[in-house]
Amino acid sequence: MKIVACYSNKGGVGKTASAVNIAYGLAKAGQRVLLCDLDPQGASGFYFRVKPSKKLTDERFFTDVKRFTSAIRGSDFDNLDILPANMSFRDFDVFLSRMKNSRSRLKKALKSVDKDYDVVLLDCPPNISTLSENVFKSADAILVPVIPTTLSERTFEQLLAFFDENGLPKKKILGFFSMVQGTKKLHSETVAAMRKEYGKRLLDVAVPFSSEVEKMGVHRAPVGTFARNNAAVKGYDLLCKELLERL
Ligand SMILES: Nc1ncnc2c1ncn2[C@@H]1O[C@H](COP(=O)(O)OP(=O)(O)O)[C@@H](O)[C@H]1O
Ligand SMILES: [Mg+2]
Repeated sequence: MKIVACYSNKGGVGKTASAVNIAYGLAKAGQRVLLCDLDPQGASGFYFRVKPSKKLTDERFFTDVKRFTSAIRGSDFDNLDILPANMSFRDFDVFLSRMKNSRSRLKKALKSVDKDYDVVLLDCPPNISTLSENVFKSADAILVPVIPTTLSERTFEQLLAFFDENGLPKKKILGFFSMVQGTKKLHSETVAAMRKEYGKRLLDVAVPFSSEVEKMGVHRAPVGTFARNNAAVKGYDLLCKELLERL
């Protein structure tokens, strides 16, 4: 089982959109997938029409295997299960602060489903916290959506610096360009400059901006189910392919 985090220390960059569409893409390709929504806003559960979890409301998320696995729900798609979030997930750092080995709790919890899935995708909230340190530790790959603008480049740099300062393996970090608008000069210039600067830390794929992705909230389904032959759908397909090659 491989653990893949969709993570950025910045909000609104496409973490949830990529988690949802990659989960769907990998499941369609025959991988057994669990999408684990770690963001209290519960957006990925919403996109898959799964209700917020009522069971996982305290630190037993990290300690009670039975509780954790019984909160997993099926989705409308073969091979794809969802662990929905709820508002108490905003207190993850409080729960973790009371525990020993507070940085390896998520890894331990996910071990309980090791045999059941090929890939676990984590849809993460946007911060650098004890929960994110758990994510960094448990994940085999950390997918970081980067909108090619100055502020996103800065947050990507901050993340790499955090890994350096804390002796974490930077090779886990796989950035990819998200919501790219080819007609914007700033976007194409930033893409070129960042490719030069960060080399292998960036995947080849760039997911373009497409209003079809925004309509996922209306359809409550991955974009590939209602907008075939769309450029963003092709982007997510390539993202799945490149991710599998890099895992
Ligand atoms: N490729 C894309 N093209 C257009 N809109 C997008 C794309 N990816 C994400 N969005 C939209 O941008 C907003 C933020 O995306 P989201 O995935 O929720 O970000 P995050 O999880 O990083 O906060 C949402 O309204 C989403 O529909
Ligand atoms: Mg999100």
